[in-house]
Amino acid sequence: MGRVANKVALITGGASGLGLASAHRLAEEGATVIIADINQEQGEAAASQISGARFELLDVSREANWIALVDKVVAEHGRLDVLLNSAGIVRLASIEDTTEEMWRLVHAVGTDGTFFGCKHALRVMKPAGRGSIINMCSTASIQGGPQIFSYAASKSAIRGMTKSVAVLSAQSGYGVRCNSIHPGNMRTPMLEGVAATVRENDPDAAQAMENIWVGEPVDVANMVLFLASDESSAVNGAALVVDNTTTITEGAVPKAVPR
Ligand SMILES: NC(=O)c1ccc[n+]([C@@H]2O[C@H](COP(=O)([O-])OP(=O)(O)OC[C@H]3O[C@@H](n4cnc5c(N)ncnc54)[C@H](O)[C@@H]3O)[C@@H](O)[C@H]2O)c1
Repeated sequence: MGRVANKVALITGGASGLGLASAHRLAEEGATVIIADINQEQGEAAASQISGARFELLDVSREANWIALVDKVVAEHGRLDVLLNSAGIVRLASIEDTTEEMWRLVHAVGTDGTFFGCKHALRVMKPAGRGSIINMCSTASIQGGPQIFSYAASKSAIRGMTKSVAVLSAQSGYGVRCNSIHPGNMRTPMLEGVAATVRENDPDAAQAMENIWVGEPVDVANMVLFLASDESSAVNGAALVVDNTTTITEGAVPKAVPR
Protein backbone atom coordinates (compact mmCIF):
# COMPACT_ATOMS: atom_id res chain seq x y z
CA MET A 1 0.00 0.00 0.00
CA GLY A 2 1.58 3.32 -1.09
CA ARG A 3 1.84 6.30 1.23
CA VAL A 4 -0.54 8.33 -0.96
CA ALA A 5 -2.53 5.47 -2.49
CA ASN A 6 -5.85 6.52 -4.06
CA LYS A 7 -5.09 10.24 -3.76
CA VAL A 8 -5.51 12.56 -6.72
CA ALA A 9 -2.70 15.13 -6.94
CA LEU A 10 -2.46 18.19 -9.19
CA ILE A 11 1.06 19.53 -9.64
CA THR A 12 1.72 22.89 -11.28
CA GLY A 13 5.15 23.33 -12.80
CA GLY A 14 5.15 19.54 -12.98
CA ALA A 15 7.01 19.43 -16.29
CA SER A 16 10.37 20.30 -14.71
CA GLY A 17 12.57 20.40 -11.65
CA LEU A 18 10.96 20.13 -8.22
CA GLY A 19 7.43 19.67 -9.60
CA LEU A 20 8.60 16.84 -11.84
CA ALA A 21 10.52 15.09 -9.03
CA SER A 22 7.39 15.38 -6.86
CA ALA A 23 5.24 13.91 -9.64
CA HIS A 24 7.55 10.87 -9.75
CA ARG A 25 7.60 10.47 -5.97
CA LEU A 26 3.81 10.78 -5.51
CA ALA A 27 3.14 8.39 -8.38
CA GLU A 28 5.61 5.87 -6.94
CA GLU A 29 3.62 5.95 -3.71
CA GLY A 30 0.29 5.31 -5.40
CA ALA A 31 -1.19 8.72 -6.30
CA THR A 32 -2.91 9.59 -9.55
CA VAL A 33 -0.89 12.58 -10.77
CA ILE A 34 -1.97 15.41 -13.04
CA ILE A 35 0.99 17.39 -14.31
CA ALA A 36 -0.14 20.93 -15.12
CA ASP A 37 2.28 23.24 -16.87
CA ILE A 38 2.53 25.99 -19.49
CA ASN A 39 5.15 23.91 -21.32
CA GLN A 40 3.01 21.39 -23.21
CA GLU A 41 5.76 19.47 -24.98
CA GLN A 42 7.84 18.91 -21.86
CA GLY A 43 4.77 18.23 -19.73
CA GLU A 44 3.41 15.58 -22.09
CA ALA A 45 6.82 13.92 -22.32
CA ALA A 46 7.12 13.91 -18.52
CA ALA A 47 3.64 12.46 -17.99
CA SER A 48 4.30 9.68 -20.52
CA GLN A 49 7.24 8.51 -18.37
CA ILE A 50 5.22 8.27 -15.15
CA SER A 51 2.71 5.53 -14.61
CA GLY A 52 -0.64 6.89 -13.45
CA ALA A 53 0.17 10.44 -14.64
CA ARG A 54 -1.32 12.67 -17.31
CA PHE A 55 -0.72 16.19 -18.57
CA GLU A 56 -2.98 19.25 -18.59
CA LEU A 57 -2.06 22.59 -20.10
CA LEU A 58 -2.30 25.37 -17.50
CA ASP A 59 -1.13 28.95 -17.30
CA VAL A 60 -1.29 29.45 -13.55
CA SER A 61 -1.56 33.23 -13.91
CA ARG A 62 -5.08 32.98 -15.43
CA GLU A 63 -7.90 32.36 -12.99
CA ALA A 64 -10.25 31.15 -15.73
CA ASN A 65 -7.76 28.36 -16.55
CA TRP A 66 -7.72 27.30 -12.92
CA ILE A 67 -11.51 27.17 -12.65
CA ALA A 68 -11.75 25.00 -15.77
CA LEU A 69 -8.95 22.62 -14.73
CA VAL A 70 -10.02 22.11 -11.12
CA ASP A 71 -13.60 21.45 -12.23
CA LYS A 72 -12.36 19.01 -14.87
CA VAL A 73 -10.25 17.08 -12.34
CA VAL A 74 -13.18 16.76 -9.95
CA ALA A 75 -15.54 15.78 -12.79
CA GLU A 76 -13.15 13.07 -13.99
CA HIS A 77 -11.77 11.75 -10.69
CA GLY A 78 -14.49 12.74 -8.25
CA ARG A 79 -11.95 14.41 -5.97
CA LEU A 80 -8.84 16.53 -5.57
CA ASP A 81 -6.74 15.51 -2.57
CA VAL A 82 -3.45 17.30 -3.15
CA LEU A 83 -2.44 20.52 -4.88
CA LEU A 84 1.26 21.30 -5.23
CA ASN A 85 1.85 24.86 -6.45
CA SER A 86 5.38 24.52 -7.85
CA ALA A 87 5.20 26.72 -10.99
CA GLY A 88 7.52 29.68 -10.57
CA ILE A 89 9.97 31.92 -12.38
CA VAL A 90 12.85 34.08 -11.23
CA ARG A 91 14.31 37.33 -12.59
CA LEU A 92 17.71 38.32 -11.24
CA ALA A 93 17.74 42.02 -10.35
CA SER A 94 18.15 44.25 -7.31
CA ILE A 95 15.36 46.67 -6.37
CA GLU A 96 17.35 49.32 -8.25
CA ASP A 97 17.21 47.39 -11.51
CA THR A 98 13.83 45.69 -11.23
CA THR A 99 11.50 46.91 -13.95
CA GLU A 100 7.72 47.00 -13.71
CA GLU A 101 7.62 44.23 -16.31
CA MET A 102 9.91 41.90 -14.32
CA TRP A 103 7.98 42.58 -11.11
CA ARG A 104 4.63 41.83 -12.73
CA LEU A 105 5.89 38.68 -14.49
CA VAL A 106 7.35 37.12 -11.35
CA HIS A 107 4.21 37.95 -9.36
CA ALA A 108 1.84 36.78 -12.12
CA VAL A 109 3.27 33.26 -11.98
CA GLY A 110 4.30 33.00 -8.32
CA THR A 111 1.89 35.18 -6.36
CA ASP A 112 -1.21 35.21 -8.59
CA GLY A 113 -0.75 31.58 -9.63
CA THR A 114 -0.55 30.42 -6.01
CA PHE A 115 -3.50 32.60 -4.97
CA PHE A 116 -5.76 31.18 -7.71
CA GLY A 117 -4.56 27.64 -7.02
CA CYS A 118 -5.24 27.87 -3.28
CA LYS A 119 -8.63 29.53 -3.88
CA HIS A 120 -9.94 26.92 -6.31
CA ALA A 121 -8.44 23.91 -4.56
CA LEU A 122 -10.06 25.07 -1.32
CA ARG A 123 -13.37 25.48 -3.17
CA VAL A 124 -13.47 21.78 -4.04
CA MET A 125 -11.59 20.39 -1.01
CA LYS A 126 -13.84 22.14 1.53
CA PRO A 127 -17.01 20.16 0.66
CA ALA A 128 -14.95 16.96 0.76
CA GLY A 129 -13.68 17.87 4.24
CA ARG A 130 -10.08 16.99 3.37
CA GLY A 131 -7.13 18.03 1.26
CA SER A 132 -3.51 19.12 1.34
CA ILE A 133 -2.30 22.27 -0.41
CA ILE A 134 1.47 22.56 -0.67
CA ASN A 135 3.04 25.82 -1.79
CA MET A 136 6.61 25.86 -3.10
CA CYS A 137 8.19 28.81 -1.41
CA SER A 138 11.91 29.41 -0.95
CA THR A 139 14.56 30.35 1.55
CA ALA A 140 14.31 33.69 -0.33
CA SER A 141 11.22 34.45 1.77
CA ILE A 142 13.29 34.05 4.94
CA GLN A 143 16.54 35.70 3.90
CA GLY A 144 15.82 37.88 0.88
CA GLY A 145 18.80 38.55 -1.35
CA PRO A 146 20.34 41.52 -3.13
CA GLN A 147 19.59 40.25 -6.66
CA ILE A 148 16.23 38.50 -6.15
CA PHE A 149 14.03 41.43 -5.20
CA SER A 150 10.76 40.53 -6.93
CA TYR A 151 11.26 36.78 -6.35
CA ALA A 152 11.78 37.20 -2.59
CA ALA A 153 8.73 39.48 -2.43
CA SER A 154 6.59 36.94 -4.27
CA LYS A 155 7.79 34.05 -2.08
CA SER A 156 7.07 36.12 1.04
CA ALA A 157 3.53 36.69 -0.23
CA ILE A 158 3.14 32.94 -0.76
CA ARG A 159 4.36 32.29 2.79
CA GLY A 160 1.72 34.67 4.13
CA MET A 161 -1.05 33.24 1.93
CA THR A 162 -0.19 29.75 3.13
CA LYS A 163 -0.65 30.65 6.78
CA SER A 164 -3.90 32.54 6.11
CA VAL A 165 -5.41 29.56 4.25
CA ALA A 166 -4.31 27.18 7.02
CA VAL A 167 -5.74 29.33 9.83
CA LEU A 168 -9.05 29.86 8.01
CA SER A 169 -9.38 26.15 7.38
CA ALA A 170 -8.45 25.13 10.93
CA GLN A 171 -10.77 27.71 12.54
CA SER A 172 -13.65 26.87 10.21
CA GLY A 173 -13.24 23.11 10.43
CA TYR A 174 -12.72 22.70 6.67
CA GLY A 175 -10.27 19.81 7.09
CA VAL A 176 -7.93 21.26 4.46
CA ARG A 177 -4.24 21.72 5.31
CA CYS A 178 -1.94 24.27 3.70
CA ASN A 179 1.83 24.31 4.17
CA SER A 180 4.82 25.88 2.47
CA ILE A 181 8.17 24.30 1.61
CA HIS A 182 11.28 26.48 1.59
CA PRO A 183 14.07 24.85 -0.42
CA GLY A 184 17.59 26.20 -0.56
CA ASN A 185 19.46 25.83 -3.86
CA MET A 186 18.28 22.68 -5.64
CA ARG A 187 19.75 21.15 -8.79
CA THR A 188 17.05 22.04 -11.38
CA PRO A 189 16.84 23.90 -14.71
CA MET A 190 15.85 27.05 -12.78
CA LEU A 191 19.08 26.97 -10.75
CA GLU A 192 21.07 26.18 -13.91
CA GLY A 193 19.56 29.30 -15.53
CA VAL A 194 20.53 31.41 -12.51
CA ALA A 195 24.06 29.97 -12.52
CA ALA A 196 24.44 30.70 -16.26
CA THR A 197 23.44 34.35 -15.74
CA VAL A 198 25.84 34.69 -12.79
CA ARG A 199 28.67 33.11 -14.86
CA GLU A 200 28.07 35.73 -17.55
CA ASN A 201 27.92 38.74 -15.26
CA ASP A 202 30.08 37.94 -12.25
CA PRO A 203 32.71 35.19 -12.69
CA ASP A 204 33.91 35.49 -9.05
CA ALA A 205 30.40 34.92 -7.72
CA ALA A 206 29.98 32.03 -10.18
CA GLN A 207 33.20 30.47 -8.86
CA ALA A 208 31.91 30.81 -5.29
CA MET A 209 28.62 29.17 -6.35
CA GLU A 210 30.56 26.09 -7.47
CA ASN A 211 31.53 25.40 -3.87
CA ILE A 212 28.23 25.76 -2.03
CA TRP A 213 25.73 23.12 -0.99
CA VAL A 214 23.10 22.25 -3.59
CA GLY A 215 20.31 19.78 -2.84
CA GLU A 216 18.68 17.26 -5.15
CA PRO A 217 15.05 17.62 -6.36
CA VAL A 218 14.14 14.36 -4.61
CA ASP A 219 15.03 15.96 -1.25
CA VAL A 220 12.14 18.37 -1.79
CA ALA A 221 9.91 15.71 -3.36
CA ASN A 222 10.22 13.65 -0.17
CA MET A 223 8.91 16.61 1.85
CA VAL A 224 6.07 17.01 -0.66
CA LEU A 225 5.25 13.32 -0.22
CA PHE A 226 5.10 13.69 3.57
CA LEU A 227 2.81 16.75 3.33
CA ALA A 228 0.61 15.06 0.73
CA SER A 229 0.20 11.95 2.87
CA ASP A 230 -1.95 11.48 5.97
CA GLU A 231 1.28 11.11 7.98
CA SER A 232 1.31 14.91 8.23
CA SER A 233 -2.32 15.27 9.32
CA ALA A 234 -1.37 17.56 12.26
CA VAL A 235 0.96 19.73 10.16
CA ASN A 236 -0.92 22.84 9.02
CA GLY A 237 0.32 26.37 8.37
CA ALA A 238 3.95 25.27 8.67
CA ALA A 239 6.90 26.70 6.74
CA LEU A 240 9.17 23.70 6.25
CA VAL A 241 12.76 24.40 5.32
CA VAL A 242 14.78 22.00 3.13
CA ASP A 243 18.16 23.73 3.07
CA ASN A 244 20.79 21.82 5.05
CA THR A 245 21.22 24.81 7.45
CA THR A 246 21.59 27.50 4.76
CA THR A 247 19.19 29.88 6.54
CA ILE A 248 20.85 29.47 9.94
CA THR A 249 24.49 29.53 8.86
CA GLU A 250 26.66 32.59 8.65
CA GLY A 251 28.33 32.46 5.24
CA ALA A 252 27.94 29.68 2.70
CA VAL A 253 27.23 26.05 3.49
CA PRO A 254 30.00 24.02 1.82
CA LYS A 255 29.34 21.49 -0.88
CA ALA A 256 28.34 18.12 0.51
CA VAL A 257 30.20 14.87 0.02
CA PRO A 258 28.62 13.22 -3.07
CA ARG A 259 25.90 10.71 -2.16
N1 LIG B 1 15.57 25.15 -7.83
C1 LIG B 1 15.76 25.82 -6.71
O1 LIG B 1 16.90 26.00 -6.28
C2 LIG B 1 14.58 26.37 -5.96
C3 LIG B 1 14.80 26.84 -4.65
C4 LIG B 1 13.74 27.35 -3.94
C5 LIG B 1 12.48 27.39 -4.49
N2 LIG B 1 12.27 26.96 -5.75
C6 LIG B 1 10.91 27.04 -6.29
O2 LIG B 1 10.49 25.77 -6.68
C7 LIG B 1 9.55 25.87 -7.75
C8 LIG B 1 10.01 25.00 -8.89
O3 LIG B 1 11.28 25.46 -9.32
P1 LIG B 1 12.23 24.57 -10.24
O4 LIG B 1 13.60 24.80 -9.77
O5 LIG B 1 11.68 23.23 -10.34
O6 LIG B 1 12.06 25.37 -11.62
P2 LIG B 1 11.92 24.85 -13.13
O7 LIG B 1 12.20 26.05 -13.95
O8 LIG B 1 12.72 23.62 -13.32
O9 LIG B 1 10.37 24.46 -13.24
C9 LIG B 1 9.37 25.42 -13.19
C10 LIG B 1 8.20 24.94 -14.01
O10 LIG B 1 7.15 25.94 -13.92
C11 LIG B 1 6.56 26.05 -15.20
N3 LIG B 1 5.87 27.34 -15.36
C12 LIG B 1 6.43 28.56 -15.51
N4 LIG B 1 5.47 29.49 -15.69
C13 LIG B 1 4.28 28.84 -15.65
C14 LIG B 1 2.92 29.25 -15.78
N5 LIG B 1 2.60 30.53 -16.01
N6 LIG B 1 1.96 28.33 -15.69
C15 LIG B 1 2.27 27.02 -15.48
N7 LIG B 1 3.53 26.57 -15.36
C16 LIG B 1 4.53 27.47 -15.44
C17 LIG B 1 7.72 25.88 -16.17
O11 LIG B 1 7.27 25.56 -17.48
C18 LIG B 1 8.51 24.76 -15.49
O12 LIG B 1 8.08 23.50 -15.94
C19 LIG B 1 9.48 27.35 -8.11
O13 LIG B 1 8.37 27.92 -7.49
C20 LIG B 1 10.76 27.91 -7.52
O14 LIG B 1 10.66 29.26 -7.22
C21 LIG B 1 13.30 26.45 -6.51
